[in-house]
Amino acid sequence: MVDKILYEFVKECGYEKALDMFKNISSGKKLRSKLILKIAGENEISLRLCAVIELIHLASLLHDDVIDDSTIRRGKPSINALFGSKNSIMLGDILYSKGFYEIVNLDPQIAKIISKAVLDLSIGEMMDVDLGSRFNPNLDEYLKMIELKTAVLIEAAARSAAILAKLDDEAYAVYGKNLGLAFQIVDDILDIISDENRLGKPAFNDYKEGKTTLPYIFLYNALNLDDKEILKSLWGKELDENQTRWIKDKFDEFDIVKKSKIFAKELGNKAISAVSNHSLQEIVSSMIDREF
Ligand code: FPP
Ligand code: MG
Repeated sequence: MVDKILYEFVKECGYEKALDMFKNISSGKKLRSKLILKIAGENEISLRLCAVIELIHLASLLHDDVIDDSTIRRGKPSINALFGSKNSIMLGDILYSKGFYEIVNLDPQIAKIISKAVLDLSIGEMMDVDLGSRFNPNLDEYLKMIELKTAVLIEAAARSAAILAKLDDEAYAVYGKNLGLAFQIVDDILDIISDENRLGKPAFNDYKEGKTTLPYIFLYNALNLDDKEILKSLWGKELDENQTRWIKDKFDEFDIVKKSKIFAKELGNKAISAVSNHSLQEIVSSMIDREF
């Protein structure tokens, strides 16, 4: 249903080329929609809310793939790879603007929550790019960046759904924020343990892109001074087989994946304890145990 509304939304924009480009985007995991429907139930308004959030999320991914020079998304060539960066940015603008056009039809409180989340999202992306310009072993900066880049929109989805369902929106916001933080950390773990086929995007790619994610921050803190220097010297580089092996061996030696997973699980537990909705526990556990 959400995919159908999304398609109708893009069709309503009234520009054939945009719709043709949109048809090349594969359907994603829809974490944000699942969350909204579990909290608010399935009805016309909750489904429209899902479609608005997915439109904004898609727009942000279109822009992000241009920013990150990514050529694969959801197992298929990215829109920038197929149609070029200019078209990808403009399609992102169309989806984003249509999302905001539709927001106006929602409850003003929800419209405000989503608008603020998109502002934070944009700041988070800028922080991500800034942090990616240097080796960054600072945990607090990393956590702030992923909170803005990823968690705020998931938090806004949960809070808005709670408002629709007349539930305690503060509690659901805490749930959404912690779920979002855990989601991004799992994404960062998958980059180092998974492969391109399962991920639908290149694996072992974050560090090369300059992203010092949680596993790398944990590893840096565990290494001796000489090895710290080696790890730093590999930052932002296209790695050969030996260098990749060196990093992977060090991850194993210091049990970094397990430590990172525990960190994500603790955030997941924080999310679960904020609300008393059992079906939301399942979203947390399947998100943490996911393979892509
Ligand atoms: C993916 O991160 C990117 C995001 C979660 C947010 C991107 C946000 C913007 C571009 C700003 C907002 C723009 C609009 C139009 C609303 P990632 O690169 O770590 O993940 P990936 O590996 O899946 O690309
Ligand atoms: Mg990216």
